[in-house]
Amino acid sequence: PPGQRFVNLLPLPRRVDATRVGQLHVQMEELQQWLGLTSPSGSKLMTTVWGYGLRGQKASYPGSTLEAFKNVPLAVEWRNTLPRPLLPFPRAHLLPVDTSIHLASPGFGVPTVTHLHGGHTEPESDGLPEAWFTQRYLERGPDWRKQLYRYDNTQEAGTLWYHDHTLGITRLNVYAGLAGFYLLRDENEQLLMPLNVLPSGPYEIVLAIQDRMFTDQGQLFYPATPPPDTTAPFPSVLPEFFGDFILVNGMAWPRLEVEPRQYRLRMLNGSDSRFYRLFFNQDMRGRVFQVGTELGLLDHPVPLDEPFILAPGERRDLVIDFKGLEGARLTLHNDAPVPFPAGDPLAPEDPTRDIMRFDVSLPLRGRPWPSAEVRKALPGGIPGTLRPKHGPLQPLTATRERKVLLFEGTDRFGRIRPLLGGQVQPQRLETFLWDEPITENPVLGTVEVWEIYNVTADAHPIHLHMVHFQVLGRAPLTVAEGAVTPKEHFDPHTGESEGTGGILDLTQVSVGGVQPPPPDEQGWKDTVQAFPGEVTRIVARFDRPGRYAWHCHILSHEDHEMMRPYQVVS
Ligand code: C2O
Ligand code: CU
Repeated sequence: PPGQRFVNLLPLPRRVDATRVGQLHVQMEELQQWLGLTSPSGSKLMTTVWGYGLRGQKASYPGSTLEAFKNVPLAVEWRNTLPRPLLPFPRAHLLPVDTSIHLASPGFGVPTVTHLHGGHTEPESDGLPEAWFTQRYLERGPDWRKQLYRYDNTQEAGTLWYHDHTLGITRLNVYAGLAGFYLLRDENEQLLMPLNVLPSGPYEIVLAIQDRMFTDQGQLFYPATPPPDTTAPFPSVLPEFFGDFILVNGMAWPRLEVEPRQYRLRMLNGSDSRFYRLFFNQDMRGRVFQVGTELGLLDHPVPLDEPFILAPGERRDLVIDFKGLEGARLTLHNDAPVPFPAGDPLAPEDPTRDIMRFDVSLPLRGRPWPSAEVRKALPGGIPGTLRPKHGPLQPLTATRERKVLLFEGTDRFGRIRPLLGGQVQPQRLETFLWDEPITENPVLGTVEVWEIYNVTADAHPIHLHMVHFQVLGRAPLTVAEGAVTPKEHFDPHTGESEGTGGILDLTQVSVGGVQPPPPDEQGWKDTVQAFPGEVTRIVARFDRPGRYAWHCHILSHEDHEMMRPYQVVS
């Protein structure tokens, strides 16, 4: 169906002040929502989606934006109130489920579990992949512990988000719409907002960018035809998903009417596999600043004068200045190749070159931004200092350097299967399946450097649960011929052959000098772009005990084994 570009207004998810209530009941529901699609005759096509909403309020896709405050605990029950169908689970899902990969739920219900991405959360409330549960908790995964999750919010202000994380169907549940923002605030940020230094209220806008495909009837379409040359069943998980519609906050190619002033944009890439390289259709130099990474403000605002990359799972906290641009129509464009970074460039007519448009069409209302006094004190209108300086987790204080591996293997059907690996022997890295014993086991309270060796052809956004980390830098990786040998995997339960991974002989690789991260990456992060042919170094303090997960945030990858448990041991 045609999706008109820049016609429909950007929807803003309902905001929920979660700082005073103590406890929330959020329901997952199936609903009909207009995503901006029209029939050839011009009538609106409604789409069946899954959304989150507070009990007693209408659910939406994306879900309501929860606003929490540092150190103010919040309890949330994520209730699965999706329709409970009469057909057994795989057939009852809105989208085609591949039953040949990990499959949650042997029963009739639809399994779901909500993970707070970026949350410094106890394991029982983390929303781990095997903590899934079906409607009325009739079926529960092996890691299910409790109904009422507890978020301590023991971390600084950041752009968190929540989304489904069910083993083997995360990509489908998120695609159906199960995602929303969770904005965490703190005193430092509160000080910057009343000063009008960080735009707030109606001038703070969340943007969840996601690609989708649709049937002619306007329903979500998820391709599932197995790749040729494989023996895989239908429906099949695919190496990656790339849609031809761009949705922002659940609306195809929307536009936002803005005043000629500064806005704060909380930007999320909630797509399955698509990286975005974003830029405007006109020169915006000196008008776009990054003020924060996923889990906190930067020390200083960083001008984003060049196109910037947003990987699946990543967020950027931006301040953008429309002052003096009355009447302008600013289109946000994307030109990231698929797959990223070495895939084909987008064709000139590719619809995913367009994201959304900002129309500077509203009169300036209320307090101009920033106030005259603030402007005088702050050249550019943004303070030079956004927070007390990040104390870097110096690698010197790290108790351990750990090497991990990103690898592209094949599964037992001959399909491409991306895998993670660890180091159990000194001079080698080898791949492991999700179900195999833990190989990453930091000691509680210690600081570790993780070196991510990417020997695949693609960039992968690597996410660690629970911790916030700093990017130390990236180094070129040269792998000698013969350094990689295949490793056969076996199902730990049945002992049957489970496909092929790999072993990297570390004596046959060379790692060049480390390039420090660019300034827009020098804040607290939870997801990092790991490029092919590079070693990406991060550092984190593992300060909560228990079992968590780390994985690639390309959802088609994490569902197809590019995910591993890790354990913080005391
Ligand atoms: Cu956003 Cu483990 O995920
Ligand atoms: Cu990946």
